[in-house]
Amino acid sequence: MFQFNFDIDEGIDEVMTTDLTANVPHAPASGDVHDFSSTQQTIAESFAEISLDSLLDALPSQISHSPLSIPLSDGKELKLARRDLFDARFQLISEGTGDPETTEQASDQKINSALQFLDNPSDLVPLVYEGGLKTWECSLDLVSYLSSIGYSKNLGGKRVLELGCGTAVPTLYVLHEIFSSQPTTESDSHIHLQDYNASVLQLVTLPNIILTWYHSPAADQYRNSESHEGSDSELNITPELRDAFTTSLQTYGIYLRFFSGSWDTFDLQSAGGKYNLVLTSETIYHPKSLPSLIRLMRDACGTSLNEDTLDEGDHRCLCLVAAKTVYFGVGGGISEFIRCVGGMNGEQNLRGQVETVWEKLLGVSRKVMSVRWS
Ligand SMILES: C[S@@+](CC[C@H](N)C(=O)[O-])C[C@H]1O[C@@H](n2cnc3c(N)ncnc32)[C@H](O)[C@@H]1O
Repeated sequence: MFQFNFDIDEGIDEVMTTDLTANVPHAPASGDVHDFSSTQQTIAESFAEISLDSLLDALPSQISHSPLSIPLSDGKELKLARRDLFDARFQLISEGTGDPETTEQASDQKINSALQFLDNPSDLVPLVYEGGLKTWECSLDLVSYLSSIGYSKNLGGKRVLELGCGTAVPTLYVLHEIFSSQPTTESDSHIHLQDYNASVLQLVTLPNIILTWYHSPAADQYRNSESHEGSDSELNITPELRDAFTTSLQTYGIYLRFFSGSWDTFDLQSAGGKYNLVLTSETIYHPKSLPSLIRLMRDACGTSLNEDTLDEGDHRCLCLVAAKTVYFGVGGGISEFIRCVGGMNGEQNLRGQVETVWEKLLGVSRKVMSVRWS
């Protein structure tokens, strides 16, 4: 059975507070390298849509969760509930990879790759498991920046995509804002989540979305109903909860879609075309994947804008990338990203401009960048 080789520190916040140095044991620069992306003919995951219904069907009968505190731009703190990693791990161990699309060959390869990492605690297994079960700290920075521009308050009729979402904290924030406001019937919001691993979408992305809804005013009626079951740290997933959740989505005009697979296989057309808001956090660490991520961001965005022109025009896109300046040992980081966005890695048709809109200089420096495409 395939198992992720977690490095769980029970009781300690699982937000990753370090750079990736310690988390990528097989850095290409080191001597005894096991570069899984080149030596193992790893099968990259291809694009697949996973329906909300199938993700709901895959939920266990109970999920355990803990609060995640997110500092906001106004000095306040937002608390969102997040599924406990040990709980996701337990489901994974008892049920396998959970990737309905995984072929026997790909599954065997995943198992072999994972087994080779058993003695090397790792948060990333390149092209097998890319770290999405944990929450990485730049995702909190992205929330802080989103809260400072107030964008999430006006998402009616907008299309939002989070790339490499993992635990999806930025999208949880967006949903928290929608679920905390009055529903309007004016226009629908299309919120799409992408992760390399289908199992991540199943084990953490959707559970976290449900938890965000459950703790919001949108779920007041359900929480006060007789059919409600749950405690401060555990939520029972009952048919009534599922119905109340999907009814709320309809009431608020929210259309959720989930996509797995590598960025170079993402099918923008079947996802419905361009987006108004493209978000991504801690996804620029690997130079090899940068071009495909950047091309996808550009195609998903089309024309760009800054937050001061959010309401202009028919199609405008705000494209935000949160990242650490350097990912030691893996080669990626912000300079490499800026070079690639500007077409300086030989991709003439990539001509974006990057502007830093949020920055933290202490410790391992981190930024939120806005990318304009011309
Ligand atoms: C370090 S995790 C960050 C997760 C989350 N955004 C956060 O900040 O907590 C990197 C994420 O990027 C995604 N990812 C990495 N390489 C990818 C690739 N080549 N194609 C698609 N997704 C990829 C993984 O699925 C994973 O969720």
